[in-house]
Amino acid sequence: CSKMSCGRGALIVLEGVDKAGKTTQCKKLVQALIASGRPAEMMRFPDRTTKIGQLISAYLEKKSNLEDQTVHLLFSANRWELVPEMREKLERGISLVVDRYAFSGVAFTSAKPGFSLEWCMNPDVGLPKPDLVLFLQLHPTAASQRGQFGAERYETSDFQRVVMQRFEHLMKDPSLNWQVIDAAKSIEELHAEIKTHSETAIAMAENQPIGELWK
Ligand code: ADP
Ligand code: TYD
Repeated sequence: CSKMSCGRGALIVLEGVDKAGKTTQCKKLVQALIASGRPAEMMRFPDRTTKIGQLISAYLEKKSNLEDQTVHLLFSANRWELVPEMREKLERGISLVVDRYAFSGVAFTSAKPGFSLEWCMNPDVGLPKPDLVLFLQLHPTAASQRGQFGAERYETSDFQRVVMQRFEHLMKDPSLNWQVIDAAKSIEELHAEIKTHSETAIAMAENQPIGELWK
């Protein structure tokens, strides 16, 4: 087999507050990886297409109300239901570029009053561990300049400020390969940085087993 397509694929996660540019960069990264002969696919969480995803979507659109605990567990269940598909793809050598993961899960719920980081992390312990977590760091003021927030739940500057603090706490975990990127840069500059980090992570992951998150 060729040098580039032999081992497993890498699990690459993009995180950051709303409007940091995650979706823009995930799409560009997948295109660039494929163009350079590295099989890659994009995923996003929440995946609103499943039954669980539809419950989450209705909650985010404020069409339904759920207890904070309930929706937290649904977000986690939405990741777990995709794990068999993720493992299968990674083992076939496909790298996965994922728009949000368990870090959003913990950052958003723990930004609500009365939720500890530990309680929030527990349901996601043991998920496939990302080989790379790119954090698109953007000041809330800069984020607000990228357009108005929509009408979905969590789309307020005050809440996003607390979410950012929770992300900063999670980034201190040295067992994960966090790379913090200055998301105020241009789309092309960011893309170049993200591509470089991703190529390194793909080369490193090839000969390693898939890890377990927070274990
Ligand atoms: P996210 O998925 O993190 O919410 P998006 O990729 O949807 O962010 O981008 C949010 C908005 O900001 C979009 O209008 C997008 O075109 C714009 N945008 C994305 N990246 C940049 C950038 N580097 N500089 C300026 N605007 C950007
Ligand atoms: P998303 O569909 O990525 O929306 P957007 O493209 O507007 O960023 O995410 C929807 C919201 O759900 C977003 O505010 C982050 C939040 N979220 C959680 O609260 N928990 C989670 O586990 C995830 C993945 C997202």
